[in-house]
Amino acid sequence: MASPQTLAVVKQTVPVLETYGTQITTVFYQNMFAEHPELLDIFNETNQKLGRQQSALATTVLAAAKHLEQLEVLLPQVMQIGHKHRALQIKPEHYPIVGKHLLGAIKEVLGDAATDEVINAWAEAYDEIASVFIKVEADMYQEAMWSGFIPFKVIKKEITGSDIAAFTVQPEDNSFDVSRLPLTAGQYITVKTDPEDSDHIALRHYSLYSVDSSEGLKFAVRRDNRNEHRGLVSNHLHDKIEVGDTLLLSAPAGDFKLNQSLIEQNDIPLVLISAGVGVTPVLAMLEAQVKANPKRPIIWAYACQNQDFHAFDGRINALLEQAEQVQKSTFYFESNQLLNEEWLKTLPNPADVYVCGSMIFMDSMIDGLAALEHSNDYIHYEPFGPKMSLSAG
Ligand SMILES: Cc1cc2nc3c(=O)[nH]c(=O)nc-3n(C[C@H](O)[C@H](O)[C@H](O)COP(=O)(O)OP(=O)(O)OC[C@H]3O[C@@H](n4cnc5c(N)ncnc54)[C@H](O)[C@@H]3O)c2cc1C
Ligand code: HEM
Repeated sequence: MASPQTLAVVKQTVPVLETYGTQITTVFYQNMFAEHPELLDIFNETNQKLGRQQSALATTVLAAAKHLEQLEVLLPQVMQIGHKHRALQIKPEHYPIVGKHLLGAIKEVLGDAATDEVINAWAEAYDEIASVFIKVEADMYQEAMWSGFIPFKVIKKEITGSDIAAFTVQPEDNSFDVSRLPLTAGQYITVKTDPEDSDHIALRHYSLYSVDSSEGLKFAVRRDNRNEHRGLVSNHLHDKIEVGDTLLLSAPAGDFKLNQSLIEQNDIPLVLISAGVGVTPVLAMLEAQVKANPKRPIIWAYACQNQDFHAFDGRINALLEQAEQVQKSTFYFESNQLLNEEWLKTLPNPADVYVCGSMIFMDSMIDGLAALEHSNDYIHYEPFGPKMSLSAG
């Protein structure tokens, strides 16, 4: 527990950090990568270029500083970040490196205002925050289905919806039977690649689109080309990885999952809303729901560019046929069919809603559901990027 003096100093300096937060973390990353270039193999190069991780870290440091007396209120966020850290293999020995460079950056940006008293207080605060992360992550390492990144062989690669490659992979170690893994719908695996277009190793998360691993682990990758830039790993996986090739994967992670207490009941419908490749985790959820209880009413909504981009349609229909009460809606942007607030008004309330798609899409769904007074407890979402960049935090 931080001393009362530390708490007072940290609280006093929060407004300063709020002003300089992004600057501090930008300096922090520059200095940390200069001294530890090996960390460039862990951090997402594109997030760095676009400043996304900077704001996520700044937001979290501020949130933690505000709650230093009772860090347990941050546990849900720490858990969610912890899943990503565990998937990326962030270890306790990495924390002092981040701490050293974070404090160094505070000093550099604040100049004379960063007195010894301020620096010492933040050092104590950082240690407390880091120890909460390390503890949460230690449990996650214990529970992981395997440790580190291990080699898998690609046994199937299929294109669905024009720009999505669906991969099935089996461990190279024949004695490792993945068919019995306790997969949870909504989890993602993390792929470690060495793309030709980069000087660094690149790690990316991909949601499992099936919880049935009898054939192997199944994930699907959209070719991510936007703003005239080619996505590093998605293009590598599309163009360079074929059946017979090896991929390194870390164990399934994530906290986007069906509310267990509602799966067996039939009064509150399950609503699965997705756009584009955001279909992957909710497709696994659809599979898990119809397997566990096909009587529960299911509302399925999917949006994409046009029919050519409609991913997994056959698989979705086959699963929906197993459910007893189904409402399916499809929206093609190019035909001006919009999955918007008007459609959200047709949903029953309460309904247990799961959303996955682009950041803009999810923001509009989450805001729309909130405006219609759907309870936060029944709104679940998975951004395919840092979670805190969403308005719902
Ligand atoms: C929990 C989770 C689950 C996920 N599940 C899936 C999934 O099931 N399927 C899936 O396809 N993806 C999924 N993703 C996203 C995936 O992890 C990658 O982020 C995605 O494949 C893009 O990676 P990339 O290396 O190809 O692109 P990156 O190189 O990381 O680029 C990301 C985007 O930025 C653009 N860009 C690159 N450089 C610039 C620049 N300088 N200026 C402007 N724009 C730029 C690129 O065109 C691209 O659109 C998931 C992400 C998370 C966090
Ligand atoms: C208390 C200290 C830390 C805090 C508060 C913190 C916070 C965060 C947050 C908020 C995210 C974004 C999560 C998301 O995607 O939703 C994140 C991701 C990440 N963190 Fe941490 N983190 C800490 C320590 C570390 C350490 C020690 C390392 C390793 C040196 C690390 C490496 C990463 C990486 C690689 C990502 C993924 C994002 C990217 O690649 O750009 N973090 N962290």
